[in-house]
This record gives sequence, structure tokens and C-alpha cells, in this order.
Amino acid sequence: MKAIVTAGPTLEPIDPVRFLSNRSSGQQGYAIAEALRDLGFEVVLISGPVALNDPKGLQTVRIETAREMLAAVNDQLPADVFVSVAAVADWRPAETADRKLKLDKGAMASLPLAENPDILKTISHYGLGHRPRLVVGFAAETHDVVAHARAKRDRKGCDWIVANDVSGDVMGGAENAALLITPGGEEEFARAAKSELARNLASRIKQALS
Ligand code: C5P
Repeated sequence: MKAIVTAGPTLEPIDPVRFLSNRSSGQQGYAIAEALRDLGFEVVLISGPVALNDPKGLQTVRIETAREMLAAVNDQLPADVFVSVAAVADWRPAETADRKLKLDKGAMASLPLAENPDILKTISHYGLGHRPRLVVGFAAETHDVVAHARAKRDRKGCDWIVANDVSGDVMGGAENAALLITPGGEEEFARAAKSELARNLASRIKQALS
């Protein structure tokens, strides 16, 4: 069975030296890719820029922007499962300057933005045969976790949502706690190492596809 996992942030260039991005470390996505590999999946990990080594025994595709990430996912379809762990930048600079912008000319007094594609939503809405059998999204929430995550599942059109409460030190940290929301109900994953959460999720995925 083939799995596609996205991980890390995306990086959206302003000019040759500047960019918009976020603090995602990639740890949770890499751990999920490794856990799926350990269960026998053929895994393609599509990763934004992170300070992690390519895991052994799976294919890692490095990209920078959200649009590159979407193209890389499309290149890897069909797959049995798509797990969208990446913290995709919602916005990118409307234009990327090919020369370093000069602040003294007021060029960056405002920065026009354009909306990035929603990769999870796009993949979730592919038709039969093209859409992976199982599409899993992540939802980082700080409050009303279940209600917001359920709404997000409907909005994105994915099958499962892994909701994490990021009100603490989860972003960039080694541990995570989460709630798996499926059409059948909810399952709590207690606070544990990201690798343990990854193993739990990977085994649910394998069960669901078997
Ligand atoms: O809407 P929000 O960013 O909170 O949704 C998070 C989920 O959507 C994650 O699974 C993330 O990988 C995915 N996402 C995406 N493309 C975007 C924004 C979010 O795939 N442009």
C-alpha cells in the first residue's frame, strides 16, 4: 500500500533573500512517514525545508512552496492514503522579486499577498480512482478543539482529522496530544512522544485500509 505524507512548513519567497514561512519543525510528519514505513507501506514524504535528515527506507521529496508541494503530491498519485501534516502557508507574496528589494525605496511598506492552494481540500475533492481511499488532515487548535476540528473536516472534505491542542508547547516540541476524529467517533491519543502518536495513527490507518 502506498502512502503520501506532507511535512514541515512551506517557504514562500519575497525576493532572493527573504521569505514568509512558519515554525513547523516537521517532526510529527516525519514520525508518521516512518511509522507507516515500519508497517510495510511504500511511503513518499513530501517535505518543506526542515532541519531533519531524510529517513531511511522511504522516498523524500524536498520542496519549498505550497504550489510545489501540491505538484509533488499530484506527481505521486495514485496512493491508498494521503496524510497532510504540513503547515502549509496560507498566503504567499503575490509576486516574487528577482532582485533583492530595497527598503529605502519603500518597496516593502506593504506586501501584496495571494492565496495559496489548499492541498488537503484539493486532494479530498478528487474523484473516485484519483482520490486516495483515506485522506487524513491535521488541525492545530487552541480552544474548542473538537467543534473546530469537526467543522474543519467537513470544510476540507477529508475523512479523518487529527486535532491537536497547540495552546502549550507542541509546535517544535517533542511531544504531542491529539484527538482522532473519524466519521465513527473520536479517539484520544494521550500526550506522548510524537513517535508514539505516529505509531498509533499509522496502525489505525493500516486497520482502516485492510
Ligand atoms: O485550515 P488549516 O490550515 O488549519 O488546516 C490544516 C490542515 O490543512 C492540515 O492538514 C494542513 O496540512 C492542510 N492544509 C493544506 N493546504 C493549505 C492549508 C492547510 O493542505 N493551504
